Amino acid sequence: MSISSEEELAGMQKVSEAVACTLKEMRNYAQPGMTTKQIDDYGAAILADFGAKSAPLLTYRFPGCTCISVNNEVCHGIPTDHIVLKEGDLVNIDVSAELNGFWSDNGGSFVLGEDIHHHQKLIDASKEILHKAIFNIKGGVRISDIGHLIETEAKKRGYKVIKNLAGHGIGRSLHEEPSDIANYKDRYNQTRFKRNAVVAIETFISTASTYAETLNDGWTMVGDKGGFVAQHEHTIVVTDGKPIVLTEMNGIWS
Ligand code: CO
Ligand code: CO
Repeated sequence: MSISSEEELAGMQKVSEAVACTLKEMRNYAQPGMTTKQIDDYGAAILADFGAKSAPLLTYRFPGCTCISVNNEVCHGIPTDHIVLKEGDLVNIDVSAELNGFWSDNGGSFVLGEDIHHHQKLIDASKEILHKAIFNIKGGVRISDIGHLIETEAKKRGYKVIKNLAGHGIGRSLHEEPSDIANYKDRYNQTRFKRNAVVAIETFISTASTYAETLNDGWTMVGDKGGFVAQHEHTIVVTDGKPIVLTEMNGIWS
């Protein structure tokens, strides 16, 4: 969407606070020995307190409230009683929701407890690259130039990017135009970011794979060549200067 009034900005701020707070609280709540279903239930209660509804459930009938992806899972992991979290797991939580007709999306990867499998470097790379990408976005910047930045920064650190997952416009629904804010330079995408546009920017930084494939459950995505992927995502408003990071309070940068 394009923000055209104070009311619209306030609506986006409110739903963004709901998803950001939920993500932050879920991350703090997660402990070894818990199932991903327990963490999803906890997040669902927080969203409900805000009066917000799960976006993947509303939009795609996703079998959960939030997406929780563990270790080799890249994204869209289904919260389940069967996955018990362990010390050192690479966990990604992605929370998106609707509130009063406004939609916001955010996510982040983290290590559960001690980093015994050494995932932190990948996570830090993803966070830093998201920061750099977001603060290079303003009205008139080509979407493909931000993709180029993400891929270049990933390569510099010895990583790859997932090419078939991307950021997207958001605001009046979960996925809007521009639909493919890729993590690489898509030479066929001539679209530029527009001032006042609301977009969700997300990284998919990878140790081995460059494509994500869907498992037989119809949802969970894993890398085509294995390895691990870190994702961090903020919903922002594009301006002529620094963007407004609507989901900043999720704390993924702190
Ligand atoms: Co998301
Ligand atoms: Co998204």
